[in-house]
Amino acid sequence: MVAGERPLLLLDCDPGHDDALALALAARHGELLGVTTVAGNVALERTTANALTMCEVLGLDVPVHAGSPRPLVAELRTAEFIHGTSGLDGPAHPPHRRTPASDDAVGFIVDTVRAHPGALWLIATGPLTNVALALRAAPDLAGSLRGVSIMGGGVPWGNVTPAAEFNILVDPEAADEVFRSGVPLTMAGLDATHQWMIDAPIIERVRACGGAAAAFCADLLDFYGAAYGTVYSDRNAGPLHDPVAVLAVTHPQLVTTERLHVAIELTGTHTRGMTVADLRGVRRGAAPNVDVVRTVDATAATDVLVDTLAEYR
Ligand code: BDR
Ligand code: CA
Repeated sequence: MVAGERPLLLLDCDPGHDDALALALAARHGELLGVTTVAGNVALERTTANALTMCEVLGLDVPVHAGSPRPLVAELRTAEFIHGTSGLDGPAHPPHRRTPASDDAVGFIVDTVRAHPGALWLIATGPLTNVALALRAAPDLAGSLRGVSIMGGGVPWGNVTPAAEFNILVDPEAADEVFRSGVPLTMAGLDATHQWMIDAPIIERVRACGGAAAAFCADLLDFYGAAYGTVYSDRNAGPLHDPVAVLAVTHPQLVTTERLHVAIELTGTHTRGMTVADLRGVRRGAAPNVDVVRTVDATAATDVLVDTLAEYR
C-alpha cells in the first residue's frame, strides 16, 4: 500500500452493533469492495438483513453477499443477550431497498482476493466460518491475501466462558483452520478491545454529530452499553470490539502488536474455543503465527470514530 492510499478491504461480519460501526469505519477509511455475512450474533438471515440495513443507513453502495448459516462442526450459538432479537436492537430500522448480491460469500471472497493478489485485507468480525471455507476452497488465498484482521479471542480471557471469546467459541474448528493456514493474521482480542469502552459521554458526542446515521449509531450504542451493563457489570459501557480489527489495518498507529504463536483449543472441558497464546518467550516454542493487538489508543480511536460518523448524513 502506498502512503496515503486507502487499503483494499472486504468485511466479513455478523452485525451486531459493533460490526455495524466496523462497517462505518471500513467504508470511510478503506476501499471497501464488499461485505460478506455469517451466522453469529443472530441467524444468517438476520445478519444479512442487518448488513443491508447498515448500508441503507450509511448510504453505502457496497455488495452484500450472504455466507454460511452454520459453523463447520458446532451447533450455532447466538448472542441476543447482547445484541437483542434483531441483532441490531435499539433504533428503528428503516426499510432497505437492497437485496443480497448472492448467497455465495465464499465464492465472492475467493474471486475478489484473486483479482487483487497481495493487496486485499479481509477483516473478519464474526465467527471464522466463511474465512475457513474460503481457505479450504482456495488454499492459495493464504499467500495472496495482504492479511486477515480478526476480532476474536483474548489473551488470556474469554467472555462467553472464562476461557473463550464469542467469535472463536461459535466456530472453533474454523478458527483452528484459519490460525494454522499460514495467512498473515492480525488478532484483536478482548484484552485489546476492552481498552476502548464506549460510555454515555462518548455516545453524546456521536449524537451531537447530527444527521440520521449518527443518531442511528448513537441509539445502537445506547442499547449496547445498557446490555453490557446488564450482563457484565453495572457500568453502562460496551467495548467496541469489532472496530479495532478495522483500525488495526486503516490506522495501525493507534495499536501496538506483538508477534506470538496462538493455537485454538478444540477439546478442553472448560477451555474449548480458547486462544492459547504463547507468552513465554522461549526460543524453541512454535513459530509465531499472529500479530496480536496488545494496546489500543482509546482516546484517538474515539476521535476517529466520532469524526467518521460526523461525515455520514
Ligand atoms: C464479538 O462477539 C460479538 O457479539 C461481537 O459482535 C464481537 O464480534 C465479541 O466477543
Ligand atoms: Ca461481530
